Amino acid sequence: AARKQELTARITELLKAKNAVLIAHYYTDHEIQALAESTGGFIGDSLEMAKFGKQHQAQTLIIAGVRFMGETAKILSPEKHVLMPTLQAECSLDLSCPIKEFSAFCDEHPDHTVVVYANTSAAVKARADWVVTSSIALEVVEHLDAEGKKILWAPDRHLGAYIEKKTGAKMLRWQGACIVHDEFKAKALARLKAEHPDAAILVHPESPAAVIDMADAVGSTTQLIKAAQQLPQKTLIVATDRGIFYKMQQACPDKVMIEAPTGGDGATCRSCAHCPWMAMNGLEAIYAALSEQADAHEIKVEESTRLKALIPLNRMLDFAA
Ligand code: 13P
Ligand code: SF4
Repeated sequence: AARKQELTARITELLKAKNAVLIAHYYTDHEIQALAESTGGFIGDSLEMAKFGKQHQAQTLIIAGVRFMGETAKILSPEKHVLMPTLQAECSLDLSCPIKEFSAFCDEHPDHTVVVYANTSAAVKARADWVVTSSIALEVVEHLDAEGKKILWAPDRHLGAYIEKKTGAKMLRWQGACIVHDEFKAKALARLKAEHPDAAILVHPESPAAVIDMADAVGSTTQLIKAAQQLPQKTLIVATDRGIFYKMQQACPDKVMIEAPTGGDGATCRSCAHCPWMAMNGLEAIYAALSEQADAHEIKVEESTRLKALIPLNRMLDFAA
């Protein structure tokens, strides 16, 4: 505990001294989110993190999240230093979609509009016509479908299937998955719901279709927190990374929150519904990013890739505005 206090104090000083701001995703550990709050930083979903970093005056952005979030920040703010607590924080969706194979897939379907999830590398974004996050995917695809566009979607198969179902658009779909959300189990969830018949079920759309089908609310992390506040139910069963409980509980202190089951027997597997890459963003790693040579932590995106990736990213931001 003493070490934690010391690190928190040092990080707070260094953020100030270096004109840096801490931007954290909801899936980081609760103490990291608390640190972002106490230092005037930000916690949000992946779209909000990107927007916040772009408009903030700080010269250095510390992105506590996973690599694609750091890259997105750099693409939008090339003049800033974008540091990550560790450059090893990956995302299984990003890893499932290597640029070479993805580019070949796109080349096979030149008549398709390429829509990629934000959980992808800068190179994959550079190959896309549109980037979307889970908070805006439905609206963008609805818009493209209404224009009669043929759509190629990557990489999350569950989010892709959910978008198809909701919009009626038919898309060519890449078959990637999030290793965290893919683990939620519908049968065990049904049993849990039977034990709590008055509970509402909240689900992130990276979860399997059978889990989404049981949801009272489906959406991005921020959308789920809003739903938690708005739904009348006092008990909430939540199918997303457990990092979200920090802000969700703050938003509705009177509600009871239960983690959705990731094990078939109905027991919640505490180590499963937490992204291992998000968990790498500890206090020591944040301190290292601020105190070591920046090189070991700095996100770099090659300029020609950055300029290409900026086009579909700006399309999304303009669409969202
Ligand atoms: P959000 O855009 O909902 O924050 O999701 C990002 C993510 O990585 C979900 O697993
Ligand atoms: Fe990627 Fe899933 Fe981790 Fe989100 S929770 S960063 S989608 S692996």
